[in-house]
Amino acid sequence: MSPDAPVIWHDEIDSTNEEAKRVAARGQFLDHWIAARRQSAGRGRLGRTWVSPPGNLYASALILVPGGIEYAIRLPFAAGLAVLDAAGQFAPQAALKLKWPNDVRSDGRKLSGILVESGSADHGVWAVVGIGVNIAEVPESAGQAATCMADLAPGRPLSAEDMLSALRISFSARYAQAMTDFPSLRADWCEHAEGRDAPMRAKIGSEEIEGLFDGLDPDGGLALRLHNGERRIIRAGDVELVRKV
Ligand code: BTN
Repeated sequence: MSPDAPVIWHDEIDSTNEEAKRVAARGQFLDHWIAARRQSAGRGRLGRTWVSPPGNLYASALILVPGGIEYAIRLPFAAGLAVLDAAGQFAPQAALKLKWPNDVRSDGRKLSGILVESGSADHGVWAVVGIGVNIAEVPESAGQAATCMADLAPGRPLSAEDMLSALRISFSARYAQAMTDFPSLRADWCEHAEGRDAPMRAKIGSEEIEGLFDGLDPDGGLALRLHNGERRIIRAGDVELVRKV
C-alpha cells in the first residue's frame, strides 16, 4: 500500500470498517483509507463496541492482498507496529508496547486497538485494517485501562489528521515488510512485545495457562513457554494476557 494512498474522510459514519466492507462488496479494491471524525457504531474485536467520540482517530485501510489469506494474517502485526512507529514520533518518551494480538499500550493502558477483517471476491482476497487511536481523550466507557496521545505527549497538540498522516507512511513501510519479510516483522514485533520480562497468564475459555513469552509463531500465534518446559501456541481470539501480580 502506497504512503500516498488516498483518504476519504467522513464527518460521521457508522464504522469505517463497515464502510470499507461495503466498498469491497461493490468490488472496488483500489487501495485507500476511509477515515471518520466520529463513528456511531464503532466495533472492536470479539463483538465489542469501540466508543468513538470526536477527537480520536478512526481509520480503515482497504487493501487487495495479492498473496491471499496466508499474507492477510500478517496485517495485524504490521498495523500494530505502524501505530507504534507513528505514535512514537509524537510521544518519544512514552514506553509503547504491543500486546498480542494487536493492541498498542503504554504502561498497561490501551492507546490503540486494531480490527482486521477480510473476505474474498473475484479479484482475490481483500482486507480491511481498522485502526482506532485515542488522540484527544480516553472514552469514558472504554471498559479497560486506557490512555491517549494528549496524555502521552502533553503540550504537543495533535489532531487525528496528524496521526493519520504519520500512519499512512508507517503503515506503508510495515505493510511492505509484512509482505516481503515476515520473519523480520515478527522479530520487530517481539522486540516491542509486552510481557517479555514477566510470566504471563493466558485465559482461553475456562482454561488458564501460565508461561513466559516465547515469541511469535510463523503464523502469528503467541508462543508461551510453560513451567513444565512445554511450548504452547495461543491462537484463540479470546485470549486475555495479564501481567502476573
Ligand atoms: C479492539 O481493540 O477491540 C479493536 C478496535 C478497532 C477500532 C477501529 S476504529 C476504526 C475501525 N472502525 C471500527 O468500527 N473499528 C475499527
